[in-house]
Order: sequence, then structure tokens, then C-alpha cells
Amino acid sequence: MKVKKAVIPVAGLGTRFLPATKTVPKELLPIVDIPSIQYVVQEAVDAGIEEIIFVTGRGKDSIEDHFDEAPELEQILSNRGNHEMVKTLRRIAEMIEVVSVRQKVPLGLGHAVLCARDLVGDEPFAVMLADDLVDSEVPCIKQLVDIYNREEESVIALMQVPLEEVHQYGVIKGQEIEPRIFRIETTVEKPVSSEAPSRMAIIGRYVLRPEIFEILRKQPPGRGGEIQLTDGLAQLAQQRKMFGCAFTGERYDIGDKFGFVRATVAYALKRADLRDKVLAYLKSTIQ
Ligand code: G1P
Repeated sequence: MKVKKAVIPVAGLGTRFLPATKTVPKELLPIVDIPSIQYVVQEAVDAGIEEIIFVTGRGKDSIEDHFDEAPELEQILSNRGNHEMVKTLRRIAEMIEVVSVRQKVPLGLGHAVLCARDLVGDEPFAVMLADDLVDSEVPCIKQLVDIYNREEESVIALMQVPLEEVHQYGVIKGQEIEPRIFRIETTVEKPVSSEAPSRMAIIGRYVLRPEIFEILRKQPPGRGGEIQLTDGLAQLAQQRKMFGCAFTGERYDIGDKFGFVRATVAYALKRADLRDKVLAYLKSTIQ
């Protein structure tokens, strides 16, 4: 069965980016002039996904508005002759079908995914965390979908991290069975480095079989008192095969201030209209 839907949890308060996120959802903070969430949605579109399910919270309606029609704004831009921007806005509104469900209480990532159960139904689906941007030739989630299409089993994105950073991630125990493809035995959420089963960290891209929902429904709270998706994955890996994909591409953790700045510089350097100026500026400040 084809992976048609992507769940994107966006209910988080974004406390690490206060005061910027007091009234603006962190997912709408721009990397140059594009809200970060739009890069994630574009990645889904480029992977052939047909519907986005936002798991939202209070104060997050403007994320959906970003992907909606904006007739008044288009009219004003049109009157001013800015037809290029009208086209850009139209393209965003027509990008993909968007639906949403509320996560009324923040009980963790596993709970956020469970909130999307009725909208996903009984089919495989993607989960994409908006704090992770991945710049790659083949969209990161497509790299996972391709493995799913072959194996019809859940696939999660992996990246090797330094030992002193494993405590920030879900970490796997598993074997590399083909270049970049791992067979996963189990997963553990944010282990202390001495107990980490490997340095292969889970990055926020997953393709999951619907069996995960029943597991999450019954799951007790884990680390931090939250329903952890990683704990659900450990259960799922006991029931069925599970694969990891050490994806190719550059990942930016934009939930972190330095990661956000890194992404801003990297994405600006990729832009033809900015590259030379940004490069010259960086060179001049380094000297
Ligand atoms: C979440 C997951 C964690 C994963 C990480 C990837 O953690 O719980 O397993 O490794 O995303 O970015 P968070 O960064 O939301 O604390």
C-alpha cells in the first residue's frame, strides 16, 4: 500500500525560541524568507505524499492558514503588478491537501502521533518532525518510502552522532545489513551515553505501519513522563521487522538556536540571489 499521508506534529510551544514564539508558531519562523514548515511540507510533496495531517495545538492556526488560499492578499499584489508573488502564493495554497487534528494536552510525541489515528486509518504513513530539516538530493522521507515500498515494514531515519550527543536522541540497536540500511532490534529514547546501544540516532523522519497506533494507545508514559514514540517503536520492532535508513543529506536541527543559524546560512548560500553577498559578508567577518 502506498504511503499517501504524512503526520507533522506542530503542537509544541517552542519555548526555546521565546520571545519570538510568544505569538508566532515556531514552525513559521523563516529560514531566509520561507517558513521552516514549508520546507518540510515540500519534502513530503517531493516524495509523492498526497495529504498532510498537522497535529496542532492552541495558537497554531496560522500554520494551516499558510497553506490556504489568500484571495485578498493576491488581489492587492495583483493590483500592484506583483504577479510573480501571486504565483508563489498560489503555488503554496495548491501544494497539497492539508487537514488537522488537535492535541489538546502535550503528552509527548507518541501521543501526538496517536491523535492522528482516525485521520490516517489503516495504512502506512510518514511522520515528519518540523524541527529537523534535511537538505538532500533525494528527499529524506522518499529515501525511507523507497525502502518501505520494497519491504512493507516500518523504516526510520538514522544518523551517526558523537557519543556525547546520544542523550539528545532516540538511539537504535541493530545491524547494518546493506549499505545504509539497518535491521533494527530495538530503540531507546535519550539514553545516557554509557547505556547507549549504538551511536545511530533517530532523526525526525519515519514511515510507520498502522500497527503502531494500537501500541501507542496502550503505552505507559516513558522518559520525561511523556508517551514516547521511540518506546512504541521498540514494541513494534518486537512484533514485526523494522528497518533504519542512514539517509544521505545534510540535517539541520532548527529546534536549536545554533542549528537554526546554521540552516539560515546554508540555505542563504544556496540561493542565487543571495549567495555572493552572503559569502562576501562571511569572508569579511572572518578576517
Ligand atoms: C524527538 C524524538 C527523538 C528523536 C528526535 C529527532 O526528540 O523523541 O527520539 O531522536 O526527535 O530530532 P526531541 O528532539 O523532540 O526531544
